[in-house]
Amino acid sequence: MSNTILVGAQWGDEGKGKIIDVLTEQADIVVRYAGGNNAGHTVFVGQQKYVLHLVPSGILRKNKLCIIGNGVVVDPISLVEEIEMLRQLNIKVDTNFAVSETAHLVLPYHRELDAQREVLKGKNKIGTTKRGIGPAYGDKAARVGLRMIDLINPERFEAKLALRIKENNEVLKALGAKPLSFKKILAEYRAAGDYLKPYVKNTVVLLHQACLRGDNLLFEGAQGTFLDIDHGTYPFVTSSNTTAGGACTGSGVPPHRMDRVVGVMKAYTTRVGEGPLPTENAEISDLLHGMGREFGATTGRPRRCGWFDSVAVRHATMVNGIDGLAVTNLDGLDTVEAIKVCIGYRIGRTRYDYMPADVEVLSQCEPIYAEFEGWCEPTTQARKWKHLPKLARTYLKALSELSAANLAIVSVGPGRDQTIFV
Ligand code: GDP
Ligand code: IMO
Ligand code: MG
Repeated sequence: MSNTILVGAQWGDEGKGKIIDVLTEQADIVVRYAGGNNAGHTVFVGQQKYVLHLVPSGILRKNKLCIIGNGVVVDPISLVEEIEMLRQLNIKVDTNFAVSETAHLVLPYHRELDAQREVLKGKNKIGTTKRGIGPAYGDKAARVGLRMIDLINPERFEAKLALRIKENNEVLKALGAKPLSFKKILAEYRAAGDYLKPYVKNTVVLLHQACLRGDNLLFEGAQGTFLDIDHGTYPFVTSSNTTAGGACTGSGVPPHRMDRVVGVMKAYTTRVGEGPLPTENAEISDLLHGMGREFGATTGRPRRCGWFDSVAVRHATMVNGIDGLAVTNLDGLDTVEAIKVCIGYRIGRTRYDYMPADVEVLSQCEPIYAEFEGWCEPTTQARKWKHLPKLARTYLKALSELSAANLAIVSVGPGRDQTIFV
């Protein structure tokens, strides 16, 4: 292998967890670099389902070091719960796990502010996961955030927390919300700090040493390209750089160490939360929901569904430098007779071959479709490229060409073995 960055090439939930789990077999270290517990990465090992929110999905394989990098915002209570959940399922989390000392914390006032701001926005709400992600990154940028290094230093944590609660309680009161109890939060988070202390490390140095040893690093992206704060459909985005560049800033591993970028995308499109989704379509939505598919791994919300949007993925190829595509959920289209793919946008008589940056313009865009004949047979048993129906291969080749990146992996089911290396 080599040092690989894996990113979502659409709006999140592309199946990154499954592909990370598959690629981890050849990696030594798996690193989360952005987002927080807004992420929900599903991995099946046999019949057992795991949903990971903060701990890298590599944790499910033996002898792999899993690191939460400095770019992630960590809700300590949620992290403790996740470690406990994994241990109950007999997954080892000790020397194989580390969290950056400079990762910022998500605290109760972040979650409360996230919820209150969504209410204030009314019909213009973002549809956040209400995990406090935006306010936590906001504090980081405003230089008033608390970090893991503060959490494991009880005196320092108490002093900093006192100041932040004082200010945030004023804001919450002004918004008509209840103020938070400093005492209660201090006790709860101190306990979490004690629990997490053994894992808090200087992960930048740790990763640097791993690079010198020639270890293979796998960077686990969270969310997707169009939820990136710079490259997404702002303001309907998350608050971090989810794209490939974020892997460097969010881990401290420099750009020249990166060898490859894998972009994960579904064979169709989904999105949770508000914001434009040009190819959104009731037919495919009803079909997938009817099959019990496409409900959010973190919030359980039904995902909005649409046809594959090659204009969007081509943009993702550009901003991430994707050299290998992993197409997931091909089997979701197994029963569709006529499959549509968006090859351009139109507003009136103006055609767009790229994604307009302005969401108001993007919202007016109508997709221009090409149509593909469906293969109408199950693909879930295919294990090699040649096992796939000819029409499915034609479809996949077209997705790759339209997305301007080579096809590397095709996934035909949630299981580890339901994976085809092209
Ligand atoms: P992530 O956030 O990108 O890791 O994706 P999620 O876990 O939120 O959502 C992807 C969903 O698709 C999960 O339920 C996976 O188990 C499932 N999945 C991934 N790849 C495939 C596939 O090829 N076929 C099917 N049927 N399900 C898949
Ligand atoms: P994974 O890693 C899909 C969406 C939310 C909302 C917007 C902002 O599982 O792909 P936030 O809570 O981050 O402030 O919400 O981003 N969102 C995701 N959608 N998958 C995710 O993560 C997401 N993380 C955030 O639904 O629209
Ligand atoms: Mg997800």
